[in-house]
Amino acid sequence: MRSIVVLISGSGTNLQAIMDYIATEKLDANIELVLSNRPNAYGLQRAAEASIKTAVIDHKAFDSRESFDQEMIKVIDPYKPDLIVLAGFMRILSTDFVEHYEGRMINIHPALLPAYKGLHTHQRALADGVSHHGASVHYVTPELDSGTVIAQGRVPVMDDDTEERLQERVHHIEHIVYPEVVKWFSEGRLTYQNHQAYMDGELLETPVIIDQESA
Ligand code: GAR
Repeated sequence: MRSIVVLISGSGTNLQAIMDYIATEKLDANIELVLSNRPNAYGLQRAAEASIKTAVIDHKAFDSRESFDQEMIKVIDPYKPDLIVLAGFMRILSTDFVEHYEGRMINIHPALLPAYKGLHTHQRALADGVSHHGASVHYVTPELDSGTVIAQGRVPVMDDDTEERLQERVHHIEHIVYPEVVKWFSEGRLTYQNHQAYMDGELLETPVIIDQESA
């Protein structure tokens, strides 16, 4: 069984979706640890309720990004994770940290990458009047939000959407796409070699698309 460490900063609804997949045996994996950089992240409570170990490393206690990241490595590595899952982990990671976990660290970003890297993605998508928006699960590489995109959940943007409504729709698709990707990994379908991602043994050239209509 694959072992996973999940990094969070907040509510942890994506963590919950992965935990639910495991609980209903749709996913054969074990979450060894949930690590948060914020002591009051609600996701810590979700993990504790499921009897999953938790740890807090408060980034404010460190004087540099590098020293914070080194402390995270110290805490994570004894669990020997096969996969690090960033689930709403709102810290930029140092190159050393990213390279340490290259090919075994994935992130979910609330946009159809390469569109809307960074913050305020829903607001920016609405301002541009795009017809579709969504979320991307990608491998983490040193450049922010730029690693190979594994899968995307796509949702329509409605004429009368508010940022809140759009965010809710994106969140809903995130909770389908992220556990699916973790499942592909745990089944050995999703692999990574020589800086490249493979799905079922084939080079992953375009992301797998999951449309809201078909989800
Ligand atoms: C998710 O919408 C995720 O896409 C986003 O944070 C939210 C976390 O929600 N991640 C990023 O913006 C990363 N740059 P959650 O804590 O309820 O899973």
